[in-house]
Amino acid sequence: MYSAVDFQAFDETSISNLDEKKKVAERLAASAETGQTIGAGSGSTAYLAVKAIAARVDAGEIERVTLVPTSHEIEMTIADLGLPVGDLFCDQPAWLFDGADEVDPSGNLIKGRGGALFREKLLFESTGDRRVLVDASKCVENLGSKFPVPVEVVPRALPVVMPELKRLGATSIEIRRGGGKDGPVITELGNVIADCRFESIGDDMEAQIKSITGVLESGLFQGYEPTLVTPD
Ligand code: A5P
Repeated sequence: MYSAVDFQAFDETSISNLDEKKKVAERLAASAETGQTIGAGSGSTAYLAVKAIAARVDAGEIERVTLVPTSHEIEMTIADLGLPVGDLFCDQPAWLFDGADEVDPSGNLIKGRGGALFREKLLFESTGDRRVLVDASKCVENLGSKFPVPVEVVPRALPVVMPELKRLGATSIEIRRGGGKDGPVITELGNVIADCRFESIGDDMEAQIKSITGVLESGLFQGYEPTLVTPD
C-alpha cells in the first residue's frame, strides 16, 4: 500500500474513554458503503472512525471510499492509511461524521477542542446527513457546563472582538496557548482561538458571536439536529 506520509495523529494509550470511542467508531464505520464520499471530522473519535473505515476497506468489505478531511491531522491520517483524500472543491460528501466536546438534549454541540472548528463547520454546511460520535462523557444538560466555547479570531481583531464577547456575556476569555511552541495556538488558517466561558448560552449565541467583525467562526453548532452515534 502506497502511503505519502507516516503520521500517527494520536497515541491511542492517551485517548480518554478509548473503549467507548472505539465502539462508536466501529458502529459508524459499519454504515460506510462502497463508492461513497464521506466527510471526516477531527479529534480522537473521528480519528478512530477513520481507522475503522480503513480497516473495512483493508478487509475487502467495502471499496472506493473517499474521505474529505477537516484538518491536517485527519488528512494526514487518511493519507497514511492509504485512503483517497477528497476536497470540497470537487467532492460532495454523502454524509459526514465528527466528534463533539459537549452535546445537549436537543443535539446542540460545542466543538473545537482540537482547533479545527472552522473546517468542521464548513463540512457541516456541505451535507444534511451529519453523524456525531458521542460517548457518555459528552452529554450535558446545558452547553458550556464543562467546556468553554472556542472562538476563532483574526489576531489583529482581538482588541475589537474581546469586548464584544464580554458584551455577549463571556465571563472569562482565554487565548489558547500552544503546546510545542511558545505563545498562542495559531490555527491552520493563521488565527488565534479565544476560549470563552458563559454563564448561559441562548439559542442565538452562535449567530451573535458570528456577527462580530474579526470572528471567523465559533465552536457552537446550534440547530443542526445531527444524528447521534452512541456506543450502544
Ligand atoms: C476538533 O476540533 C473537535 O471539534 C473534536 O471533534 C472534539 O473536540 C471531540 O474530540 P474527541 O473526539 O477527541 O473527544
